[in-house]
Amino acid sequence: MNAHRHNFPGLANNWHYLDSAATAHKPQIVIDTVSRALGEDYATVHRGVYKRSADMTLAYEAARARVARYIGAGSADEIVFTKGATEAINLVAQSWGQSLNPGDRILLSTLEHHSNIVPWQMLAARVGAILDVCPLTVDGRIDLDAAEALLTPAHKLVAFAQVSNVLGSVLDAKRAAALAHNVGAKLLLDACQSVPHMKVDVAALGADFIVFSGHKLYGPTGVGVLWARGSILAEMPPWQGGGAMIDKVTFANTTYAPAPQRFEAGTPMIVEALGLAAAIDYVETIGMETIAAHEAALTKTARKELRTTNAITLYGPEDAAGIISFAMEGVHPHDIGTILDEEGVAIRAGHHCAQPLMAHLGVDATARASFWLYSEDSDVEALLRGLHRVKKVFG
Ligand SMILES: Cc1ncc(COP(=O)(O)O)c(C=O)c1O
Repeated sequence: MNAHRHNFPGLANNWHYLDSAATAHKPQIVIDTVSRALGEDYATVHRGVYKRSADMTLAYEAARARVARYIGAGSADEIVFTKGATEAINLVAQSWGQSLNPGDRILLSTLEHHSNIVPWQMLAARVGAILDVCPLTVDGRIDLDAAEALLTPAHKLVAFAQVSNVLGSVLDAKRAAALAHNVGAKLLLDACQSVPHMKVDVAALGADFIVFSGHKLYGPTGVGVLWARGSILAEMPPWQGGGAMIDKVTFANTTYAPAPQRFEAGTPMIVEALGLAAAIDYVETIGMETIAAHEAALTKTARKELRTTNAITLYGPEDAAGIISFAMEGVHPHDIGTILDEEGVAIRAGHHCAQPLMAHLGVDATARASFWLYSEDSDVEALLRGLHRVKKVFG
């Protein structure tokens, strides 16, 4: 029995939850933190003159500092709270993106999630920029040799996933940063699927923007993070107007607050930010290296067993981070998912918000199992038992 599983009430009753790449279950400490923040501690931030609000402001800003420490940011002011990774990427596209000119280029890759494609398409259409797509290696990694060949001084941004949400393949982010910087471009790392599996240290990676969602890192939904280098954030114009992001407002003119407040218009996600800080405390207590080793071992076992199961095709590299996509000959992934559900096993089946990658793989969907810190051998065994039943049902 996994030593941490009992901390996750959502996993009671022997449920084999293998869809954490979509969203992770929450440890009790996060649920308690959110409950307290919504209950006895609840108040708004940045505005109240009363003590409860002042305390809540301190707790909200402490959550920002907690995130900053966790990812090795230079300062808490480099952390912008957003609704999630999707909103963080849209923020960069709509704010920093205003610096782009017609003919400027953006390099994406074949394996990106739609949230790291569509905002750039919208920006390109707005400013007349051009999108390029970096191909993948045969085993499903972003091909950085190809990226090197594609990059030109016209490229202003490279936006890559650090870990693919479909293939689990891990990017050599340091090299990606060096390649981008060689041509004067910035690197945005979509760290949605890396933050739950590995230590993400902004100083070591050398990226310019890093985004992730709290809910995949055991935190609540409704909160995500944009980290950007302080010097870049300082130059970025606001993207949404409203309360809290201003310095002074008159009908003639408005001046704006410095970052990060400039990018947090309106009442922020107070409760959710506190929940995310509690989630970070939780994973740090266990230790990211311990978590990574545990997930790598489960992924390796599952891949090995699946490989020897007739009629299964495995996608992605051998050293995939916690995520395995697969297909079963003659069975639609949705049917696999439905039969597994009857067996108490929850997987994801579909295009995983990565339709260009599905097109590249020549399928319209895959089945995906993902392993997080609370996963255990019994989950792998239940998956394999369930797949045997799928095979029986479909002959
Ligand atoms: C790689 C990747 N990027 C971005 C996202 C978008 O995250 P969210 O929907 O939480 O904004 C996801 C979510 O599945 C993802 O896996």
